[in-house]
Order: sequence, then C-alpha cells, then structure tokens
Amino acid sequence: MDKKVVLITGCSSGIGLSLAVRLASDSDKAYKVYATMRNLAKKERLVECVKDLHKDTLDVLQMDVTDQQSILNVRDRVVEKRVDILVCNAGVGLMGPLEVQSSESLRHILEVNVVGTIRTIQAFLPEMKAQRQGHILVTGSIGGLHGLPFNEVYCASKFAIEGACESLAILLQHFNIHMSLIECGPVNTDFLVNLQKAELGDTSLQQVDTETLSLYEKYLQHCGSVFQNAAQDTEDIVKVFLEAIQSPSPALRYFTSGVVPPLTQLKVTEPDGSRFIHTMSKLIFSSDDQ
Ligand SMILES: NC(=O)c1ccc[n+]([C@@H]2O[C@H](COP(=O)([O-])OP(=O)(O)OC[C@H]3O[C@@H](n4cnc5c(N)ncnc54)[C@H](OP(=O)(O)O)[C@@H]3O)[C@@H](O)[C@H]2O)c1
Repeated sequence: MDKKVVLITGCSSGIGLSLAVRLASDSDKAYKVYATMRNLAKKERLVECVKDLHKDTLDVLQMDVTDQQSILNVRDRVVEKRVDILVCNAGVGLMGPLEVQSSESLRHILEVNVVGTIRTIQAFLPEMKAQRQGHILVTGSIGGLHGLPFNEVYCASKFAIEGACESLAILLQHFNIHMSLIECGPVNTDFLVNLQKAELGDTSLQQVDTETLSLYEKYLQHCGSVFQNAAQDTEDIVKVFLEAIQSPSPALRYFTSGVVPPLTQLKVTEPDGSRFIHTMSKLIFSSDDQ
C-alpha cells in the first residue's frame, strides 16, 4: 500500500509535534510525514520521540510560514512530488488590551495565522487539484468561532481562517479534496508561554484605564482556571485529527471538546449577538458586574 504523504506546519512543539510523532510512528507505517518547523534547532524533541524503527517515515524540514521562499523550498523537497494530507497548524497568540498592541504585533499575528496558513495552502493546492484528491486540515480554535475579550486580534485571525476554509471547501468538493477545521478549546501546550501577552505591571499598560485593567485581571484569572480545569492534552487533539484523516467522508468541522458547541450554538440560535455577549461577559467577569 502506498504511504499517505503528510505535511505538517509548526512541529517544534505542542499539537504539531504530537501529530507528527503519532503519524510517523503508525504501526502500519501508513504515513510518510514531512514535519516542518521554522527553527530546525528545535527538532531534537520530535526526532527523539520517533523510534528508530520509524525513522524512514519522518523527514524534518525547515519552513517558516511567513517566508514564501521557505514554503516553496519545502514543496520542492517532497520526494513523492505530492502531498495527500496537508496540516496547517503553525499559529501564534496575542493577548492584552487592544489599545496597547503595536502595529508590529498585529501584523505578525495576522502574517503567521492568516497569510501563513493561506500561503501554505496555495503552495500545495495546484498539485492536489491535479491529482483530484487530498485533505487539508487546519488547527482551528474556539477563538475562530466566537469572540474572546483581550484576544481580539487572535480571534480576528482565527475567524479569517474559518472564512477562508469554509469558502474553499465549497469549491474543493468538486476536486475530491476535503477540508477540515479541528476546532480546539484550551490545550496544554507551549501556546500560552509563546503568545505575546501583556503582563499586569508592564509599562505598556500604564496608559490603560483602571476599569479595563481590572477586567483584564479577571480575564487572566478566568483563563488560568479554564486551562487548569478544562485544558485537553495534545493526545486528545491528535485523536480528533486521526478521526478526520481516517474518515472516508471528512466533515468541515470537528470539535475537540464539549465546552465549545454550547457557546457557538448561541450565535446560531440567537444571531443578534446580545445573549452571546451577555453570557460570555457573565462567564468571564462574574455575575456581580452584570
Ligand atoms: N494551545 C491552545 O490552547 C490552542 C487552542 C486553540 C487553538 N490552538 C492552535 O493550535 C495551533 C498549534 O498551537 P499549539 O497549542 O501547539 O502551541 P505551540 O506549542 O506554541 O505551537 C505553535 C507552533 O507554531 C510554530 N510557529 C509559530 N510561528 C511560526 C512560523 N512563522 N512559521 C512556522 N511555524 C511557526 C511554533 O514554532 P516555534 O517553536 O518556532 O515558535 C510552534 O511549532 C495554533 O494554530 C493555535 O492557534 C491552540
């Protein structure tokens, strides 16, 4: 049986790392994995997790999704000259009061999460169309389904990806190419460490009014307790990726956690948004503010 050729972005840590390890270590050796990361100095963690027996199913390549040339270099280095399963996973976060976020930070997050994801799909799409087969999976977020205070730009980036993937999915069904968004709630990864976050006490927050700062403090507490109580492990997310990858007719959206749908549902059942905003505000900032 021919191996399925898989290319994954953002494999230095977290979800990308776990997915690359799982697919490269598949007992049937059903996958050939091109695990990409922007900094190859971080590849040891991944390589060590894949046992010697499976080393032939893994290639680690440098790819920065903000660098078009590095994407094209990777495309040209795929020995099989085709990718069956493309996983756009690389992503970064940005958290804090909107008024203190620099233009540079705004551009960077949109460049990685939106332009980087779309650029990666663009590079592999013509070949997938020519083959009339393929599956594109994107690591989505609850932040792409509904708003989260102090994450406005992150949510904007993940909403943008929802729009791009949903639009593309309509076209791609004519080419027998599947599109799936794996919608994650909180996951135990380096994401919170890696995200650009305004810390309480940062000088940049001096210009922010005290009411916003007090709400931000509540948000950070809420976020901490959500991660402590409800965060999933990367293995849970990998199971959902596998369900999508192995399905004969993959869905557009997979939800990794039961926490996601009720809040998303509110947007559909009560589309004017008032109830959603009230519910989220109450959930995060506590009822005594309502
Ligand atoms: N963790 C969560 O709670 C959560 C929830 C919902 C959705 N997600 C999504 O899950 C995806 C993976 O995040 P994670 O949780 O696994 O966090 P993570 O451990 O921080 O992984 C993010 C990965 O993206 C890579 N990356 C960042 N900028 C890049 C660039 N310009 N080019 C290529 N790779 C780049 C990082 O590489 P470096 O090591 O070089 O920085 C890292 O490998 C992201 O799209 C995120 O939005 C995460």
